This record gives sequence, structure tokens and C-alpha cells, in this order.
Amino acid sequence: MSEMGADQEGIDGVRMTWNVWPRTKVEASKCVIPIAASVSPIRSHPDIPTLPYAPLRCKTCISLLNPFCRVDFAAKIWICPFCFQRNHFPHHYSMISESNLPGELYPQYTTVEYSLSNPGAVPDVAAPQSIPPVFLFVLDTCMIEEELGFVKSALKRAIGLLPENALVGFVSFGTQVQVHELGFSEISKVYVFRGSKEISKDQVLEQLGLGGAGRRAVGGYPKGVQNGYASSGVTRFLLPASDCEYTLNSLLDELQTDQWPVQPGHRASRCTGVALSVAAGLLGACLPGTGARIIALVGGPCTEGPGTIISKDLSDPVRSHKDLDKDAAPYFKKAVQFYENIAKQMVSQGHVLDLFASALDQVGVAEMKVVVERTGGLVVLAESFGHSVFKDSFKRIFEEGEQSLGLSFNGTLEINCSKDIKIQGIIGPCTSLEKKGPSVADTVIGEGSTTSWKMCGLDKTTCLTVFFDISSSDRSNPPGTSNPQLYLQFIVSYQNPEGQTRLRVTTVTRRWVDSAVSSEVG
Ligand SMILES: *[C@@H]1O[C@H](CO)[C@@H](O)[C@H](O)[C@H]1NC(C)=O
Ligand SMILES: *[C@@H]1O[C@H](CO)[C@@H](O)[C@H](O)[C@H]1NC(C)=O
Ligand SMILES: [Zn+2]
Repeated sequence: MSEMGADQEGIDGVRMTWNVWPRTKVEASKCVIPIAASVSPIRSHPDIPTLPYAPLRCKTCISLLNPFCRVDFAAKIWICPFCFQRNHFPHHYSMISESNLPGELYPQYTTVEYSLSNPGAVPDVAAPQSIPPVFLFVLDTCMIEEELGFVKSALKRAIGLLPENALVGFVSFGTQVQVHELGFSEISKVYVFRGSKEISKDQVLEQLGLGGAGRRAVGGYPKGVQNGYASSGVTRFLLPASDCEYTLNSLLDELQTDQWPVQPGHRASRCTGVALSVAAGLLGACLPGTGARIIALVGGPCTEGPGTIISKDLSDPVRSHKDLDKDAAPYFKKAVQFYENIAKQMVSQGHVLDLFASALDQVGVAEMKVVVERTGGLVVLAESFGHSVFKDSFKRIFEEGEQSLGLSFNGTLEINCSKDIKIQGIIGPCTSLEKKGPSVADTVIGEGSTTSWKMCGLDKTTCLTVFFDISSSDRSNPPGTSNPQLYLQFIVSYQNPEGQTRLRVTTVTRRWVDSAVSSEVG
């Protein structure tokens, strides 16, 4: 540990199970504790510098320039510690010397953050290249009057806390799904979807008038929305908080509990699955590839259409742990399959699902959790929307300043490692992007078969565990013949809470330990 600075683990946000690594596959297989690293990709620390330019990449392995690169100042060349490629510095680095280093070469800056310009952004002096955060609220109305009252006031409070430029949309559901057109102020305009049938993304767009020609960009986007994302959908369904606060508040005032009659002895007919499908389709049409959250507020189990977890008949009990264990939950597999597809769609769009469920009985989180996990969303379970567990947690999402959770969007993590190190996978809130490469292990743990992962939602406390394997045999690496240090590089691009694109790079080194030496010692 002495080779590392005082708080190097804290700055880098990387902690390993082993700080010296076995050199060979055989030695590695003798380690009872797996070779792994817990990584906090965007942990905040005052000693992490922000560099206002783009990074340099190795031309062979595309890892980034870092303090462990060997630099020949006279020849203006740097040698990549991962693949040993010699790279020429570009012209704008011609002034570098031992006493004039760019930030990313300072020995203590093993973690740096580059601030990049946003793709497709229009320069704006007041808010330089910031992308507005997007919140699509999806509200269940199958609740008793009192509960709906609680959740409405929580929503109103939240909308009041949003930054003025945040884009807001609103979907309500019960037996059917209602998409509210907020940009249509004269009278309230609503698009209704049947809750009983699975609906494709194209059908959603068609019905909302966003398919084909409707997707064509039109003029007069709300301020802060960049050209790249502009579509007619943005001006109709997702409006800046400052423009739609009044409309939304009066809409909430008028909103009633679901009016479809519930037969005695039956559960309310609630189409959570179709509602989430429609919401994901709407965001996909309006803002693909830019950070957005679907915030679902759910008061009971899905009983209608795809994603159903239980029949409407109250004499039919909701599946228990025992039922799941014995494979005796007839709706379970089909529902999970449905939500897996929604997860896939949302990951490809870069969007997050947050789930706030309040009910005395179960609401089906076991079936829906796949979407939350893969997209890096939040789950809060409470007994009532009037309970402080819900109220306080919900408020925290929207708080700024000291209290802020630092919710960030559209993250991608890439990992590079020294030769002979293989990545088995990651356990944590992310999805494999199935990007194969030489450092992908055959055995998979968690989200694997890749060197690149999507993290649609991430924050300062997000933590992942990466599992590694060693591929070299004794013969391929006779002790003492190669570099005694191993290197790992974690590269995270993401959209920060201020709407700026950041690229954080952490490069760490640890020592190989020769099996011969270690067995002598042991
Ligand atoms: C979101 O992430 C993807 C993949 O990293 C990237 O191509 C895209 O430009 C990002 N979107 C924004 C708005 O930064
Ligand atoms: C580094 O990562 C990139 C992207 O995942 C990959 O193409 C490249 O092969 C990796 N290089 C090494 C040395 O792992
Ligand atoms: Zn390289």
C-alpha cells in the first residue's frame, strides 16, 4: 500500500481484493477470494481536476494518456503502458517538458475528468452547452382518493423544485393509458391507449402522431433543447418545467381515480406494463441518446395486459417466495420476459426507470426490477404515498445543492487492462454492451462478454464490482522477464447533473507477484 498516496483509493474510487496479483492462471485459481475491484465510477473528490479539452488516445489500443505513460520529451513521444505503442504528441502539445506537464500527466492525477462539448449542441453563452434533464412522470390512478391526494401533492412539490429548463412529461394509467399533451394549452388533450394488448413502439408513435412525417423536426423548440434532439414530440409532450407548471398543476387538480368499475371481490384493472411501454416509446421517439428518467408511481400490482403478475380475482393470492421457488407462479416468467424487453429498449435509448411503489400488498417489483437494475434506476417501496419513506425519498431526487444526489445520465464505462488480464464481468447497475475484445474472459460473471457497459443512470454513490481472471500460463511468462506492474484503466463518459458531457479516466497500477517468489515465501 505504501506505493499509493495517502488517499489514492478515495480519489480513484477503486478498491481491490488483492493489491498484488498472481502472475499465472494456476496461481490465480488458488486464490480463495476472487480477483476483483469495486469501482465508484463518478465518486466526487476535491482532488480530481477537470480538464477543459479532449483526451489523447493511444493509436493502437485507444487507452488514454495517463501518468503511467513513459514520455520522451525531446522526441515528443509517449509510450502506452497497455500495448507499448509509441505515440507522437499532436502539435498543440509541442510545449510540454518535465516542468510543463499537462494535467493528465501529473503523477498524482491518476484520475482526471475531461469536460467535452456535447454532440449536436448549440453554443449558448448563458448555459454553455448544457442538456436539460428530462422527467416523464407515469402515475397510477387505481388508488383510493386519499392515496391519490398524497401522490398528487408530492408531484406538485417536485415540479416546483425542478430547474426551469427541465423537460417534463405526464402519463397517467389505470385500465387504460393516457398520454397528456402538455403543449396544448387551450383545452386538455389526451391520447388513450388500451391497457389489455401489447403495443409495439411503432404503434405508440403512430397513435401519438410521432411516426413517419410526424417525427420531422419543426421550428420553435423550447429554449435549451438542442437541434439534435428536436422533434415535434418535444414541443407537444415534453415541455420546460417553467412553461408547463401551471398546466400540470391544473391537470393534477382535475385528475380522478380510475373510473372503471371494479367488480366486488376483484382487484382494480391496472395496466402498468402498457403504461411503461408507451412511456418508453414516447421518450425513444423524442429524445433517444440523451439522459431522461421515467418516474413511475405505482399503487398496486399489474392485472391487465402484458406485465400482469396476478389475476383480477381477489381469491387468487399474489405469488409468494415459495411459489417462485417451486416455479408455481403462473404469470412470473411471462411478465419478466416482457419487462426484459422494456429494459433492452430503454438501455438502447439511454433512459432510466425509477419505481416508487406504495401499497399494503405486493406490487410486482420482483418482475419489474430487471428494468430498474439494467438502467441504473431507483426503487422505493412504502406502505402509503402519505408515508415519510415515500415523501422524503421522492423529494430528494429533485433537490439541488448540498442535498443533491448528483443524478447523472447516459453513462458508458470502458475498461482497458494489461495483457493477460481478462474481464469476467460486472455486478451492479449496468448492462453489457457486448463489445468483444482481447481482454474478455470466457467465463462470465454478472454482465459480461464485453469491455464496455451502459449505465443509463448513475450517481456519486454508484458502485460496481468488476471480476478479473488471469490468462497466462507459466510458460508464456517466465518469472522476471516482463514488466512487474499491471495496469487497469476505467473510462466513463456521462452527462452530469448540470447537463454537461464528462469523460472521467482513472488509471491504476498494481504489482504482479511471481509465483516462484510467492511460493518460497509461503
Ligand atoms: C449518450 O451516450 C452515447 C454512447 O456513449 C453517445 O454516443 C451519445 O452521444 C451520448 N449522448 C449525449 C447527448 O451525450
Ligand atoms: C481498450 O478498450 C477498447 C474499447 O473497449 C478496446 O477496443 C481495446 O482493444 C482495449 N485495449 C486493451 C489493451 O485492452
Ligand atoms: Zn496502447
